Amino acid sequence: MKILIINGPNLNLLGKREPEIYGNTSFEDYFETLSSRFSDHQLMYFQSNHEGELIDKIHEQGFSVDGIVLNAGAYTHTSIALADAVAAVPAPVIEVHISNVHAREVFRRHSYLAATCKGSITGLGLKGYELAIRWLIP
Ligand code: DQA
Repeated sequence: MKILIINGPNLNLLGKREPEIYGNTSFEDYFETLSSRFSDHQLMYFQSNHEGELIDKIHEQGFSVDGIVLNAGAYTHTSIALADAVAAVPAPVIEVHISNVHAREVFRRHSYLAATCKGSITGLGLKGYELAIRWLIP
């Protein structure tokens, strides 16, 4: 299966950014672990700090991949445009958050994406990406 992982703004700094919340592992390192764990499948990774680039990637891949794992970072809480992009493509999209967004600031509790995604995983650290992939693989 072809599965695309998309990370949004500031997630390029994983491993360096607020490690007490997001841990010490860079996503590049974790992606290597994931790729070897799911070596029978084609995993792809895209990260951008720009809302339009995230939307473009969903448009570009969302008609051909078998699933998308999306951590939209702070755009989760602000972007109707990203929610519309998720709704526009046939690929199932799983929303992932590394931290437990419900146990943090109130503004993180609302997700514009949740209603258009198949489901959401929040607060389980990087493991959430693996769990999302396991759900996508029948
Ligand atoms: C996050 C949670 C968001 O609220 C935050 O803006 C992020 C990361 C997470 O993975 O826990 O950038 O999506």
